[in-house]
Amino acid sequence: IQFFHTQSDYQNKKVLITMGPTQEAMDPVRFISNHSSGKMGYALAKAFQARGAEVYVISGPISLNVDKSEFHWTDVKSAKEMYHAAHKLHGLMDICVFAAAVADYAPAEVAPEKIKKSEADLSLKMVKNVDIAFELGKLKHPGQLHVGFALETQNESENAKAKLDKKNFDLIVLNSMRETGAGFKVDTNKVHIYQSSGHSVSSEVDTKAKIAELILDQIKLVPIGV
Ligand code: CTP
Ligand code: CA
Repeated sequence: IQFFHTQSDYQNKKVLITMGPTQEAMDPVRFISNHSSGKMGYALAKAFQARGAEVYVISGPISLNVDKSEFHWTDVKSAKEMYHAAHKLHGLMDICVFAAAVADYAPAEVAPEKIKKSEADLSLKMVKNVDIAFELGKLKHPGQLHVGFALETQNESENAKAKLDKKNFDLIVLNSMRETGAGFKVDTNKVHIYQSSGHSVSSEVDTKAKIAELILDQIKLVPIGV
């Protein structure tokens, strides 16, 4: 007996997904990071898997209850580590989804010992991190498809479309911060999806699992795509 997935429309596709936050160390016991839970990225990984794809996950530190054994799974901490892991797999992939909330800056130096408190205030020099999606966007090969995410608090659609162009994405998913239920940690989301072709669509507030299905359906509309 076969348990039927009605769709296996991503059969034979290799999909890379970056997800979660990155952690940028300042000393052996402290880091700079953000509130990304990895829930949207994990929902995408499960959706691709259920629809037949071979899924390669590169995840920053998350506290979700996940079954890593279903995927080719690489754990990383910093943006630099995530970049190296993604770069290694990139050439073999049919689809790359950049769902990670990569820290834009990292402490310029990692102190070898725990930084001791002193009477003075502390200021920390930060340097720019590698932009993983941008760098791999330059290496995108014909027939390969890149999907990005954006989170904006102002000029949402203009900024999202600018990122679509700059990073050579075929499609970008804009997270609606303003709308109910959307954002970090929660299980629901509302998104607007813009394609480089000009096509766009908006979701309702829905579960991240449903949003993931919508994103997979939209990816299939990309001309060079699946
Ligand atoms: N991204 C990435 N590497 C980075 C920063 C971002 O791969 N160092 C990817 C994200 O995974 C996402 C897209 O680029 O798919 C947009 O991320 P976002 O943080 O919204 O854009 P930035 O270019 O960092 O611009 P800003 O944070 O200033 O809005
Ligand atoms: Ca950023």
